[in-house]
Amino acid sequence: MSAMTPAELTDDVLEAFGRAPDPRLRELITALIAHLHAFAVETRLTPQEWMTGLLFLTATGQKCDDRRQEFVLLSDVLGLSSLVDIINAEAGATESTVLGPFYVPGAPARAMGEHIGRPEDGSPTLVRGRVTGLAGDPLDGATLDVWQSSGHGLYDTQDPDQPPFNLRGVFTTGPDGRFEFRTARPASYPIPTDGPVGGLLRAAARSHWRAAHIHAIVSAPGCRAVTTHVFDADNPYLDTDAVFGVKDSLVRPFRPAGPGDPADVSYVVDMDFALAPQAAAA
Ligand code: BEZ
Ligand code: FE
Repeated sequence: MSAMTPAELTDDVLEAFGRAPDPRLRELITALIAHLHAFAVETRLTPQEWMTGLLFLTATGQKCDDRRQEFVLLSDVLGLSSLVDIINAEAGATESTVLGPFYVPGAPARAMGEHIGRPEDGSPTLVRGRVTGLAGDPLDGATLDVWQSSGHGLYDTQDPDQPPFNLRGVFTTGPDGRFEFRTARPASYPIPTDGPVGGLLRAAARSHWRAAHIHAIVSAPGCRAVTTHVFDADNPYLDTDAVFGVKDSLVRPFRPAGPGDPADVSYVVDMDFALAPQAAAA
């Protein structure tokens, strides 16, 4: 009798999972098996490498707790999070990008134009624009939930010197769809590297820096919400962002304020957001 071949084994496994009653589960698990087996065959994966991989995934799980999700970070640095965003994008809507680990629900509602931080957080910056539908129609009652690191590269949740919900806020548009808020110009910062994902980045000689950005979740009644960023066009890490989150359409100049701009800001950023209608229920 001849020895079993890799292809015979793969077929057996595919057949076993091919009986899964749920069609979507069947599609996902059989495609996963096919790719996983092809990966092992292509790389001639050794038993030691197989075990190293399993121990890496084990350590990734062990690093997770209520505040830390190392698997999402792994997905981020492998570009999987951004790939899922791209696959599911709505044509014409503002592009989405990673949520990241520093979002905190329940940020305070703020008045239009209000500063979301403190003077000591960094160079005062005015961010303003409109939230519209895909045809450019202004969206009334749209909300922008914004959050960012300070000019020192730290979120409030990482920095005992910042009060809770510093550099966070929720703004709601009126009938013209317009919003504006004051903030600090954000800084680049390192993603958490004290876990297995940090080890992977070091082994791969990859950068752990994120390009400076402001986060926003933009939503409106009847529309599909977008989780996105505004990136600073002057930032040196735009091409090497650790989590592949940068999209050209999200990069904006932080233009020095001039005559005609409010006297209390040093920079002005113009950024509009476009939302697609909510998909009709099936
Ligand atoms: C962030 O932007 O806050 C972030 C995103 C992904 C991984 C780590 C940090
Ligand atoms: Fe961030």
